[in-house]
Order: sequence, then structure tokens, then C-alpha cells
Amino acid sequence: MRATAQAQPNIALVKYWGKRDVARNLPATGSISITLDSLWTKMCVEFRNGHGTDELRVNGVNDTQMLPRVSRCLDLVAGSRRPAAAVASECNFPIAAGLASSASAFAALVVAANEAAGLAADTAALSRMAGATSGSAARSLYGGFVELTAGDAQIDVTMVASPEDWPLEVIVAVTRREAKAVSSGEAMTSSAETSPFYAAWLERQPADIDAARSAILQRDFAALAAVAEQNCLKMHSVMWGSRPPIVYWNKATLACMEAIRRLQAEGVPVFFTIDAGPQLKAVCMPEAGDSVASALQATDGVTEIMRSSLGGGARLLAERCTT
Ligand code: DP6
Repeated sequence: MRATAQAQPNIALVKYWGKRDVARNLPATGSISITLDSLWTKMCVEFRNGHGTDELRVNGVNDTQMLPRVSRCLDLVAGSRRPAAAVASECNFPIAAGLASSASAFAALVVAANEAAGLAADTAALSRMAGATSGSAARSLYGGFVELTAGDAQIDVTMVASPEDWPLEVIVAVTRREAKAVSSGEAMTSSAETSPFYAAWLERQPADIDAARSAILQRDFAALAAVAEQNCLKMHSVMWGSRPPIVYWNKATLACMEAIRRLQAEGVPVFFTIDAGPQLKAVCMPEAGDSVASALQATDGVTEIMRSSLGGGARLLAERCTT
């Protein structure tokens, strides 16, 4: 009745921004991401006999804000007649700050809950359950380069290439650790309802996905850099065009972007992407890791650097957890 799982966050190179069905949390378009290795969330789930209410502890502290989402996710995995659960999560990076903490959390949660309930849902099914809770979480069930295809009824997620196939490095420049004021879910809904750029964004997503997928399959770094940077800036343009405008960046985010531009001008194989938060993620060839990390570290307003290679999908851990 108890199990622990670990998952790593993923960073989208072709973003998910918009839902076709809010109630079922079905994304409007597909997306492509890379799963990280050294940032992680561990989730311990224990189903307790008898009734009572679910409990959630995050890094040792009771969390009532995330609890309803966690409970709904547990219902998807184990059914609404399941016993109450005690859930404890541990995360080694800032939460709700645009670093995909919900992706790693819900990916780990479905894997742990499936095991703790004695069920045998496969990865595809678990990925859909994670995605129904947080769209990006569906991708963290898989490692390496991951493509999510959005259908009218369900999503399909596949690994396009493994971390070994193309061992890129990711350097995260943290510019603010605090949680964001507007969640990505709320921001997406607002963009869909108010941004004049939203329809154009949706229309061009299939072409960006095709371009990113073939760049990955051909290990064409320049092509992947071009599509990923433009896709990121298009997503933020949709947000900026929303009413009220949604601006997740700060001064340091822009300074990091300039640092990446300078490296690119020197011929360093690196590109940036930014999600629903002020942190910049640089993706580079492994040999460029040290110079990218030191350039970002030296950028005004950067408080912390995190480095990661690409990693695997969500998995059970042998360790016994304590809730
Ligand atoms: C900008 O997966 O957090 O990171 O489905 O509402 O939980 P919900 O949204 P979420 O959105 C992620 C948005 C993004 C882009 C991406 O990861 O593709």
C-alpha cells in the first residue's frame, strides 16, 4: 500500500500553450520536450486503511494548496472509492517558478500511486493520467526527447530519441526562486480568450513540431535552436498580447538572453528557452557546458545555476519512504 517514485522535470522546445478541453485538460496542440536528469521530485504515496482525508507534505511541510489536485490525480489512478492517502514529496529545485515542478511531481505521483494501489497501468495510461492533471506532466513519464501528440479524445506520448542518442546539456539560470503569481493553466485560458495572436500560434504549431522532430532525428543543432527559440518567443508574444498582459520575464531574464546571443555570435552551440516563469534555460552541446554556465553565472540578477544532462522517464524507487 506504499511506494515511492521519482521523475524529472521536462523542458518544452515546442511548447504546450492552450487547451482544447479544459475539463479533461487536453492540450490544443502537440509539443516536444527534453527530460532532465539532475533535477528531480520524489513522491511517496501510502494508501491508508479506512476513511479519512488525503494529506500532502511537500519538503516536510503540510501543503493544502496543491492537495485538491493531488487528490484528483489519485482518483484517476486508483478510482474515487480508493482509501485516503498520505503523500509526501521531496523536490531538489524551486517549486512553481517556471521550472516544471508540476510536471515532475504528477509524473512521479501517478507511478507511485499505481504501485501503491497494486495496479498495473502501463506507461501510456499513466502518462494520460498525469497529463489530465498537468499537461506537461504527461511528457515526464518518458526520457530523452519526447513528443506529445494531441488528439480530440486523448494524447499520445512517445520518445523520439534517447538521452544517449543525443546527449545535450541544459543549464538553468534562476533569476527568482519565488512561486509565480499566475499559474500556467490560468494564463493559458486567458491567452486563448483574449490574445489576438492565439489563433496564429495554434495554426503554426504542427510545422514547428515537424521541424523540431526532424532536427532531433538528424541531430541538427542549428535547426533545433532556430525552431525552439522562435517557438518560445511566439508563446511569450501570445502571452504579452493577452489582456491583462502576462509577462513572466524580469530584467535578468533579458540579460541572460543577451548573454546567449553573445555566445552564439562567438560560435558556441547554445540556444535558450523560457517557460511560464523568469528563469532562462540554455540548451547546449556538452562541450559548451562550461562556457555557457560561466557566462550565465556572471549575468546580473542570476542567483543560481543548475546544470543537467538529459535523463530518463519516471520510475519506481526501491527506497522505503516515510509519509
Ligand atoms: C509554459 O503543464 O503547467 O511550461 O496543464 O494547466 O497544468 P497545466 O499546464 P502546465 O503548462 C506548461 C506550460 C509551459 C510549456 C510546456 O511545458 O510545454
